[in-house]
This record gives sequence, C-alpha cells and structure tokens, in this order.
Amino acid sequence: KILILDFGSQVTQLIARRVREAHVYSEVHPCDVSDDWVRQYAADGRLKGVILSGSHASVYEETTDKAPQAVFELGVPVLGICYGMQTMAHQLGGKVEGGHKREFGFAAVRARGHTELLRGIADYTTPEGHGMLNVWMSHGDKVVEMPPGFKLMASTESCPIAGMADEARKFYAIQFHAEVTHTVQGRAILERFVRGICQARPDWVMRDHIAEAVEAIRKQVGDQEVILGLSGGVDSSVAAALIHRAIGDQLTCVFVDHGLLRLDEGKMVMEMFAGKLHARVIHVDASEQFLGHLKGVSDPEQKRKIIGREFVEVFKAEAARLKAGGQGHKGATFLAQGTIYPDVIESGGAKSKKAVTIKSHHNVGGLPEQLGLKLLEPLRDLFKDEVRELGVALGLPPEMVYRHPFPGPGLGVRILGEVRKEYADLLRRADDIFIQELRNFRDEATGKSWYDLTSQAFTVFLPVKSVGVMGDGRTYDYVVALRAVQTSDFMTADWAELPYALLKKVSSRIINEVRGINRVTYDVSSKPPATIEWE
Ligand code: XMP
Repeated sequence: KILILDFGSQVTQLIARRVREAHVYSEVHPCDVSDDWVRQYAADGRLKGVILSGSHASVYEETTDKAPQAVFELGVPVLGICYGMQTMAHQLGGKVEGGHKREFGFAAVRARGHTELLRGIADYTTPEGHGMLNVWMSHGDKVVEMPPGFKLMASTESCPIAGMADEARKFYAIQFHAEVTHTVQGRAILERFVRGICQARPDWVMRDHIAEAVEAIRKQVGDQEVILGLSGGVDSSVAAALIHRAIGDQLTCVFVDHGLLRLDEGKMVMEMFAGKLHARVIHVDASEQFLGHLKGVSDPEQKRKIIGREFVEVFKAEAARLKAGGQGHKGATFLAQGTIYPDVIESGGAKSKKAVTIKSHHNVGGLPEQLGLKLLEPLRDLFKDEVRELGVALGLPPEMVYRHPFPGPGLGVRILGEVRKEYADLLRRADDIFIQELRNFRDEATGKSWYDLTSQAFTVFLPVKSVGVMGDGRTYDYVVALRAVQTSDFMTADWAELPYALLKKVSSRIINEVRGINRVTYDVSSKPPATIEWE
C-alpha cells in the first residue's frame, strides 16, 4: 500500500485517484500524524512508499506543517509534490526560500540527471536532446539549495530546482503538480513512482473499494440506523446500493416523488431498489403537496426555493415517522448523502468566490443539523467516473449509472413559469420520445448513440400556444424546445450539433404522439451566455 500524507491541498484526492488508476491501493492521512503512528502503520511491512502532497497553505508566508520525520527513516521510497518537495528539502537539510514571484500555470520542465522517476518520460525532446515536460505549477516558495545526497532532477527557467532526487534512498521530489491532468505525463510519473520505484502490487480494483467501503460503513454505523434521500440520480443511487450492501435493513431510503420526475422514473427506482436489491424504500407521493405550493408561482428562484423547502419538509416528516413507527426500528441517527469529491471542493471553494447567485441549487444542505443527524458520505473521496464504475461493480444497470444528470427541482425548472400538472404530463411524454430517439440514433463514425455523445439532453415546456394545422383542422397548442449540450464540466457548454434526421424524427413523433403540442424547436444557445437549464 501507499501512504499519502495530506498537507491540505485541494488536489490531494487527485493523487489518490491517480494511484488507484495505477491499480495500487493507497490511503490518505493528515500530515500531522505522529512518528509513532507512522512506524506503527509501516510495521506490518505492507507499506511500499509515501507521497507528500501539496498544500494550499504554501500561499501564506508562514507554514509550519512538516512531515513526520519517521517517514524518512522507514527505508521506503518517498515522493514530495509541490509543498511536499519543500518540506522534504527543509527537513533533510536543504534550503527553501519565499519566492518573490508566485508561479502559477503551465511551465516547460527540462528533465535532468537521468533519474529512475523521469527516465523515458517526456512530452518532446529538444534539438539538443533534452527531454521536456509540459507541467502545471502553482507555488510561491521554492527550493534554493538541495539537501545533502540529492541531485538535480528537473528545472525550469524560473525555478532552477524544479525536481530533485536522492536515488540511493529513493527520495524524489517535484515542484510541479503531477496529479492534475494539465501535467500531461503526470499519470505516467505517478505510475512510475508507485509501481516502478515502490514496487507496489498493481492488484487494486473497484471491487476492493467495495470491500473497504463496506467495512468502513459498518464500523462507522455500528448498530445504528441510516436514512437516505434517494433521487434516482447516479450519486444517491450508488450511495444507496453501497450502504445497503454494508448494512442491509439498517438503511431506509426515502424516495420523494415531487410530481416533477421523468416518465416512469418512480417505477424504475422502486423496481431497482425495492424489487431487485430488496432495500427498504419508502415511496412518498408528495406530488399534490408540491404542485399545490407551486400554484400561481412563476418566478424561477421562488419555484426553486419552494421545491427545496418542501423537500426538506417531506423528508423531515418521514424521518420522524420512522422514529415513531416501531416495526423494530428505532429511527435513524445517520443521514447518508451521495456527496462526491467535486461537491466537496465546490462547497469549500464556493464560499468566498461566488458573489452572485445565478441559480440557487436545490440540495439538502442544512438537513443534518435540522434533523440532528450525523452525516454518512461514503462517496466523498471519489470522482464521478469512479462513482459510475463503482455503481456497475455493485450491480446497478449501466443505463442507470451512465444517465445524464437531472436537477433536483426536476421538471420544475423545465416548465417555464407556473408549474401545472397538465404541463408536466405533456412534457414527460415529449421528453421520453426525445431521449428514446437519442438512444436509438448512432453516430456512424464512432458507433456511439447520441445519448452517449451528449452530456445532457432534455425537453423544455414553453407555456405559449401557436397555430398549426393537422389534417384539415386548425390546432392551437403548446410549444416545446429540445435542448442537448456537450460539456466536460457543466460550467461551460456547447449546444450539440444533432443530426437533422434525428431532429426530424423527434419532432414528428412528438407532434403526432403528444396531443397538445404542435410545435418543436431546437435550442441553439451555448453556455455562457445561456445556461443549460432554462430556469
Ligand atoms: P445550469 O442551468 O446552471 O446547470 O447551466 C448546470 C448543471 O446543473 C444542473 N442543475 C441542478 N442540479 N439541482 C441540481 O442537482 C439544481 O437545483 C440544479 N440546477 C441546475 C443542470 O441540470 C446542469 O447539469
């Protein structure tokens, strides 16, 4: 196993992810563990290497965090990244200086010294024969004097000591961030470290993660009970399946139907979780309550607030009922959530930066405090694609796990203006046709369906009427807009260039099959300036 000591960088979990990608088992622990802890940790002989992470604190002048000195006495390889390099230099007798200029962004690094870590790894070679790496840098301080025994491993124009190595002791350090994708060879470098230098066995697979997570959940929960809000989305579904695997009937899922779900969504969720997995799922049909409160409300923010508030109300009522309900249940002491690592970064980073609210996101933030429950978040360290992989490994159907994201307020933000049941019913049927055809149509070049080629696709209900003609008669019916986007992070997005044949089929099917809609439009706006959802 590999020990990753976390100095508080936002990207520490990315190091863990890269190590997992190399199929090596790793654990992240805080940097301030004691020397004794480290020696104990290594005592069984399974520890093959240590990675010291970066630190967000390196931007401040004074940082006192150090690696436990014992790390350098275990006889296993150590890799320092960014701040990890600086503390390694400092602790082993080198010199670090506060940089006068903060270096942030891309840099071209020249590999030197023919070290084991960088041997044969390069983005390109200069005419003089130097191996070069395009890397991502973010640091203020820098190493100005290497500790005894170290040789130069990498340098850039502004950072002469961008990498150093003591190959006798197998200590390596790099100033750049190998864990981010901007550093093209980063994955190869980390793989070289854990597999080549540390000789860790590449036998870790997602199945192992299930076993580890199951054990951790059992340990945390004990004989207590857990309640989870199941939305049918990827994250809450995978969390539910994982927790159910760990504690069975100690988990109760609450599936709230707010009347704004996609066609047959409730049925599918119940079949999967109650039917196939035999999990305890309470299906709450709260559509009348939600639609009642939304009556006459057309302001988008207002609508989002109402849906969020009602969700909390319904959930609280169910939690209370569970407590009072008996049937051998004493009520939950844990609230489980499908929080994944990007959510953790976002909520930590969003606090100061986000000045204006574009859209208030519907989530269950604040729920644990209101309910007096402890949080259980078994997906907190995983990235979206890993969560999907985990879901498949847990036996969830790929169609469910690879579904497009669906916003918490559901069709509530896809029916413009006032939400009415009649509108929701029309929209559900139109949207179902659109999704069916996206799954049916394949791109000839790649063989992939257009559903897989788009990041998110859906139908929007426009509460305006337009004139049409059907047979010999005049129609005066509603309009829908189709929306399909391609994006990697949902912060920016391009509208998808769907084939005309696909649009044609969808349009004619919707108009013919959904009485009440007589016009279909396609949204050709990118984000920004438009957003993905219409409200
Ligand atoms: P926008 O419309 O802001 O959406 O470009 C970006 C992504 O976020 C999703 N979205 C939400 N997801 N609760 C969610 O869970 C919400 O309230 C919410 N609002 C938007 C949207 O579907 C898109 O994927």
